[in-house]
Amino acid sequence: MLIECLLFLVALFLYFYKYTTRNFNRFKEIGIPYAKPSFPFGSFNFFKGEHVDILSLEHYQQFGKEKFFGCFFFGKPMFAVTDPNVLKVVQVKDFDIFVDRIDKVSNEKMFKGGYYDNIWNKQLTSLSGDEWKDVRAAFTPIFTSGKMKMMLKFIQHVSHDLLDEIEKKAKIGEEFELKSVFGKFSLDALASSAFGVNAETFTNKDSKFVEHAEKIFSAAPMQQMWLLIRLIPGIPDLLQALKISTNQPKSTKFFVDIIMQSIKRRRETKEKRNDMIDLMIESIKEDSNVNDDEDDKGDQYENDMKLKNSRRKQLDEEMIVSTAMVLLVAGYDTTGMTLSYLSYEMANNPEIQERLQEEIDQAFDEAGDKFPDYNVIQSLPYLDMVIHETLRVHPPVGVNFRNAERDYQFPDSNIIIRRSEGVLFNARHLHKLPEHWSHPDEFYPEHFSKEEKANRNPYVFQAFGQGPRACIGMRFALLEAKVAAMAVLRKFSFKPGTKTVTPLKIDNYSQLAYPKGGLWVKVEPRSEN
Ligand code: HEM
Repeated sequence: MLIECLLFLVALFLYFYKYTTRNFNRFKEIGIPYAKPSFPFGSFNFFKGEHVDILSLEHYQQFGKEKFFGCFFFGKPMFAVTDPNVLKVVQVKDFDIFVDRIDKVSNEKMFKGGYYDNIWNKQLTSLSGDEWKDVRAAFTPIFTSGKMKMMLKFIQHVSHDLLDEIEKKAKIGEEFELKSVFGKFSLDALASSAFGVNAETFTNKDSKFVEHAEKIFSAAPMQQMWLLIRLIPGIPDLLQALKISTNQPKSTKFFVDIIMQSIKRRRETKEKRNDMIDLMIESIKEDSNVNDDEDDKGDQYENDMKLKNSRRKQLDEEMIVSTAMVLLVAGYDTTGMTLSYLSYEMANNPEIQERLQEEIDQAFDEAGDKFPDYNVIQSLPYLDMVIHETLRVHPPVGVNFRNAERDYQFPDSNIIIRRSEGVLFNARHLHKLPEHWSHPDEFYPEHFSKEEKANRNPYVFQAFGQGPRACIGMRFALLEAKVAAMAVLRKFSFKPGTKTVTPLKIDNYSQLAYPKGGLWVKVEPRSEN
């Protein structure tokens, strides 16, 4: 029996090996340079202990002068793109061929399973083709400027707790790790706006919301193990047949229950809070009147993002649950990190911090020392420039993908990408190209002045992606970052700490791109405010 088991395991391993390496000749055959693959990770040798963004940057350093080069993500051939004009074609012009980030089969490998895995399988980031279009079209109107105005009060409310926390740090006078504070702010803002609950991240050290959110974000060894096990052909189908969920089912259940209760309560009581849950409930009604805003027209990014979708399938409550979950996952760490990097840069660039504080002070003074209204917040040019520069230098999402829906010949080339192969791009590479950025290696907010923007290929900025599949929460993220930065910098100044390990090295255990050891600063009250 032992021998039979061993033989079975060897046969399974050989099959898995053969399956993963079956395309490893692809780029050699078509004669384009490529990053050498090996089993099981392809060109991304995670055994090196580096983050995916950095492994990919190493490929770009080697082949970045080519218009395309090849690499393998596990067994999947990827055409790595270096030219922003090719990205314009992939992300916008020929979007219908590149709707999905990852192919349906790979997505299902990660999320096929029991009820709670299925919730993840239906999230916006995972959905593909027409199913994705239906959900994206239904929920896009939730993020228009008009709806963001309604979210402002929730974000402002949470910013009071943030200020209290910063004040405590200032009183103690010791340096502190930034994401431990801004992560809480971001989680509270999403809990309030998207879940309709108070997560009490600052005030309750035993908050269940925080406990379960942390579990969902942890890259626990068992979770990583499951990812590998799921690559073995047949395992995802088996998990589905046996209705076994492996993607943090307990914590997923916690959030599913919260959202379901919120929906039920609002249906029963007709209570309206005008938050994202209310808007989502409204969006899935057949006679929904949650519409796009007229005032969101004009800018290149907004125009490219528009999705042409006439089909409108009726969505159910489970779709609300999956979407609320994805807003939490996609919005929490990204925004918390952005605010942490911003504060770190302010501590280390005092002249930029002072100029930003002058702009913020003026806005408060003109509002009679009250928090300025939505239109004023959005009209502060330097604040907007500093946030975008933070995202240029420290994009939380570096490596990004698109999947080819069918065989396609890239324009002005004889290269044909085959169905289910991928396009890969790296924001970190694009954000430093000297031909597009006047001061690529400095923290230089003027990169986002009207003049520099007008003279630059817009597809070279990829912090939020581009086109109809770009970040749906961008407006919410920018509003959150603006409110937090204004609240804090009106009262406090950041000063450099000593505990940050420099040069910053991205932690390979961080799902997104955050440095090992964290970002440390001190904070001091500003005497005049
Ligand atoms: C500074 C903060 C943020 C950054 C840097 C960021 C970045 C990104 C990026 C790079 C993508 C992929 C875009 C593409 O493939 O073209 C994305 C997708 C997405 N983001 Fe964000 N994001 C942020 C905040 C948020 C927030 C606050 C939310 C929700 C409230 C959110 C929700 C989403 C969702 C749902 C997707 C998937 C969209 C789809 O597949 O249709 N993000 N984000």
